[in-house]
Amino acid sequence: MEPLLTTTDRRRVVVESHLGGGEHRTLADDVLDGLTRPFKELPPKHFYDAHGAALFDRICEQPEYYPTRAERAILATRSDQIVAATGAAELVELGSGTAAKTRLLLAAMHRAGTLERYVPIDVTESMVRASADELIEEFDGLRVHGIVGDFERHLDRVPLPVPGRPRIVAFLGGTIGNFPPGSRRRFLRSLERLLGEDGYLLLGTDLVKDVAVLEAAYDDAAGVTAAFNRNVLTVVNRELDANFVPESFDHVAFFDRDREWIEMRLRAQRPQRVHVGALDLRLTFAAGEELRTEISAKFTRERIAGDLAAAGMVLRDQVVDPDGLFALNLAQRRG
Ligand code: SAH
Ligand code: AVI
Repeated sequence: MEPLLTTTDRRRVVVESHLGGGEHRTLADDVLDGLTRPFKELPPKHFYDAHGAALFDRICEQPEYYPTRAERAILATRSDQIVAATGAAELVELGSGTAAKTRLLLAAMHRAGTLERYVPIDVTESMVRASADELIEEFDGLRVHGIVGDFERHLDRVPLPVPGRPRIVAFLGGTIGNFPPGSRRRFLRSLERLLGEDGYLLLGTDLVKDVAVLEAAYDDAAGVTAAFNRNVLTVVNRELDANFVPESFDHVAFFDRDREWIEMRLRAQRPQRVHVGALDLRLTFAAGEELRTEISAKFTRERIAGDLAAAGMVLRDQVVDPDGLFALNLAQRRG
């Protein structure tokens, strides 16, 4: 399908959308595949409709959810150094969201006099458009090429790097942890083309730590993460004409010590029957049956270096926030 190309400001902002009817299909495939397995599962990208994106923003403000604050603390003190080390003129950001922390990097590029272009890619269209419009107001001369798309399917739509104009490819927030280990390495390898010869990957990774701290971050007292988790059922109801009752599922979040990841699940409070109208699919949940909605891997330096090496990259530098909670990693293609 031809992308729907909208030019908000012909000179400075272009937003391309690659999510048309096909996206509906992806959710349908994921529901058909994931909810008919013996152990039910849905991929986390379906959390992020406009409401889910707003809930994620609220999660970031909860006292228990430390990753956003910790990563911002690193960017606040190290952005100038990162920009100096990379000479970056361009910032490509995967899963950019509201680009709140990204402003710190863009400001450092602006101060260094190198800032030319920002290329955000995210599945949530409203956020790509809003952040593009805000950023051109904030930074003189900045051009934004926004891509509304799936970073697992649409990386080929990201403009190729231009030799002599180095870029940073940023993947912040710990979103890399939402991939299972095998897919994570495959995904990192797929970034080769985006990095070009002289590009740098700036990768945010949450770190292994005390289990109580980790579990509280995914089960805040205000119930925002629980609402975010249940929202995926509302998305399926709306998009695929299903009749889940989200309130009849409990939010579950626990740290799997062997795999070193947080798992979020939705647990049926009682036996339930669900009809997914668009697929004419009938599902049953036994009382207590769980649907896995997300994994969020926590890293050690060794694991990060190992995953990057397996993807043909070298870890050049790692900066950890003063409380030792979160790491920003700067990597390059090997050789
Ligand atoms: N980078 C921001 C947002 C992290 S939340 C931060 O650090 O705070 C994860 C973001 O990734 C959301 O904005 C979500 O819409 C986006 N996202 C999740 N899966 C995606 C996918 N497969 N393709 C593109 N964007 C995705
Ligand atoms: C986007 N991602 C890194 C978040 C995380 O921490 O895994 C999503 C999230 N899930 C629950 N809270 C936040």
